Amino acid sequence: MPRSRGSTGTHEIGVVMAVPESYRGREQAFVKHELLRAYLKRLFMIIGQHQSSIRYVDCFSGPWQEGCDDLQDTSIGIALDIMQRSQEGLEQRGKRVAFKALFIEKDNKAFERLDTYLKQSAPHEVAAAARNGEFFDLRQSILDWCGTDDFTFFFIDPTGWKNVIEIPTLRPLLERPNSEFLINFMYDFVLRTHTQESFEQYIKAIFGDVPDTVGINPKHREECLMNQYRSRLKAIAPVRGGIPRTALVPILYPLRDRTLYHLVYLTRHPRGIEVFMDASEKLELVQRRVRMRAKQEHREAVSGQGELFTPEDGFDVEGKLDIQVVKDLWMRQLKADPCWFGIEELADLLEDTGWFESDFQRAFGELEREGRVRNLDASGRRHKKFIHFSANGNRGERLVRVKQ
Ligand SMILES: C[S@@+](CC[C@H](N)C(=O)[O-])C[C@H]1O[C@@H](n2cnc3c(N)ncnc32)[C@H](O)[C@@H]1O
Repeated sequence: MPRSRGSTGTHEIGVVMAVPESYRGREQAFVKHELLRAYLKRLFMIIGQHQSSIRYVDCFSGPWQEGCDDLQDTSIGIALDIMQRSQEGLEQRGKRVAFKALFIEKDNKAFERLDTYLKQSAPHEVAAAARNGEFFDLRQSILDWCGTDDFTFFFIDPTGWKNVIEIPTLRPLLERPNSEFLINFMYDFVLRTHTQESFEQYIKAIFGDVPDTVGINPKHREECLMNQYRSRLKAIAPVRGGIPRTALVPILYPLRDRTLYHLVYLTRHPRGIEVFMDASEKLELVQRRVRMRAKQEHREAVSGQGELFTPEDGFDVEGKLDIQVVKDLWMRQLKADPCWFGIEELADLLEDTGWFESDFQRAFGELEREGRVRNLDASGRRHKKFIHFSANGNRGERLVRVKQ
């Protein structure tokens, strides 16, 4: 049976403003799904240029808290939809790519829904399979399904964290070459338990030790804990592949100004970081607006009165990065002798700072206007992309510091 496509809207990320009705009360899932949708869309089109088979594994698929029958507000519906579209898009460009998807779910009822859905509604462009059971027990079977060669994207989106996000638990998957991961790290749960003795064994398996966070302010503590986890993920090396790189997207509580969970992304390709950060930059705006609307609705529910202005009216760019800091970093990076800045160097900058490519482009543009730096390979006037990092076969362009 053909699937109805995108009943929650097939918008571009950053363009949609209203949260679909089916996400009311679980706005954070909307933000997560927007990221998944935006990233997979670009990822599959890029990978499909040079691989004939692409695999996707949803290790904790649900359906869970779905708000509509066609599952378009679940990771299952979203991933299948993107795979179908990517397969068609690639075929139009003369590329024949086989898409294969595996869904894991332990809850018997949810599995029944999943299985029925796949049998009745999975697009014929995707070979979809499902397994009923515990992720922990099914790890080898998942790897067997993946085989050794095909590019595979693992989505790890559990309801809890025990026997899921610890490094020894993930190790067999992390050791697989040609793989990317998006892991939902339940930060708030981990934070609350990381100093409790009864959780010590799990916390050690996550961080390597029990991190001492006494006296550290909350922002710095979050940074330390997440960086420690990222380093441990990167320490597991498959037999082949490039330098491991990670990025984080914090997903906040809709009504409280604190992190509920982090989406941790792991790749071994510098282009992956570039594309992922681009998707997450657009997500920042979506998340801000979604939360503003949720807070407004909450206030209205409490006061019993509608508010005159929609959240978009009051939207400002406060909290955006101070561009001077980025300019200072450029000035430290550049030398009087020309240096190549390509995809690898961009990936280093993005990974080290957590800033976006557009921040680096804007800062470089300002420095150029001030006569302090030059791009030796830029011919003609450029307006937004002052540096073409993927030019010259990803080697980039030669940048130089002219004066302090
Ligand atoms: C957060 S929900 C998944 C949501 C889904 N990824 C989405 O975005 O629409 C987690 C799912 O994993 C299932 N689950 C929980 N623990 C599991 C385990 N150990 N192994 C497999 N599935 C599990 C739950 O029943 C639930 O359906």
